[in-house]
Amino acid sequence: MTIKEQLEEVKNKAKAALEGITGEDLKASLDQLEQIRVTFMGKKGELTAILSQMGKLSPEERPLVGQAVNEVKVYLEGELKAKKEALSALALEKKLRDERLDVTMEGKPVRQGKKHPTSIVLDEVKDAFISMGFSIVDGPEVELDYYNFEALNIPKHHPARDTQDTFYFTPEVLLRTQTSGVQVRTMEKMAPPLKILSPGRVYRIDEIDATHSPCFSQIEGLVVDKGINMAHLKGALDVIAKKLFGESVTTRIRPDFFPFTEPSAEIAVSCFKCGGKGCPFCKGEGWIEIGGAGMVNPIVLKNCGIDPEEYSGFAFGMGLERLTMIRFGITDIRQFYENDVRFLNRF
Ligand code: DAH
Repeated sequence: MTIKEQLEEVKNKAKAALEGITGEDLKASLDQLEQIRVTFMGKKGELTAILSQMGKLSPEERPLVGQAVNEVKVYLEGELKAKKEALSALALEKKLRDERLDVTMEGKPVRQGKKHPTSIVLDEVKDAFISMGFSIVDGPEVELDYYNFEALNIPKHHPARDTQDTFYFTPEVLLRTQTSGVQVRTMEKMAPPLKILSPGRVYRIDEIDATHSPCFSQIEGLVVDKGINMAHLKGALDVIAKKLFGESVTTRIRPDFFPFTEPSAEIAVSCFKCGGKGCPFCKGEGWIEIGGAGMVNPIVLKNCGIDPEEYSGFAFGMGLERLTMIRFGITDIRQFYENDVRFLNRF
């Protein structure tokens, strides 16, 4: 076979090989392309083999054959390049086809979360108090004995501490048992007139049962100004009771005892199920207890640098879980902490 014929054969073989690439799979096709390049134009490729025969040629033939080999080389390079471009175009087209978006297709429904029932009630309470001019104040859950007990007129060994045993880090640092310490922190920092609401978590060493949890939440309220009296307390409680349980509900305050208030009161709302006549929901009482309150003890005012001759105040504390249980008729406090969506979806 003459060199010319050999060159023609290489050209045809390469052409046939290129045509054999389908482009179905881009990666495989590019591999095939590279294989063809190596087979025909690589160092050990067929064109190189032809060039190596040049030695046998006469000096006149050499440039002619050299030129012919070069032409085939340029031709093959062009073909390879064109094939590569065609393959990429094909791949792009395929990609566009495969990834076409049908904008008319119905989307997957996104499941939306809901407010936790205690958050629903807390937000309502906050709204009511904010509308009466209260500010929302935060306090630390890891608290000093001083703020949780001492400054609230509950000295060491006071029996009131027995019902509020808690978790201690050191003898002076504990998990707060009540939000009442925020009263002291606020009165220390800010001068009257004061109107604050402080919701937050509190902790006690209580056995878990349907109405007790070692971690629960309270909502504390405090008003300090000139001439504040129990009628102001009653008025504020009425607003919140009606907001949570309906317009027909009233509140009742009865004597109670807390070291940080004097006088102290127990707060109850009239049963919104029976209108106060007595039913299974209110256990026949007609009233449902929702928290404690009172006039801020002058000792506490003094502890915070406020002159009890000039100022007076009222305070109250309510259990958020308890309020929520009453509001929605929930009978087990543990349901709040279990994160069971079947329970949470009810609200
Ligand atoms: N801190 C009390 C408790 O946990 C509740 C309470 C009673 C708060 C009377 C008050 C208050 O602010 O005046 O039982």
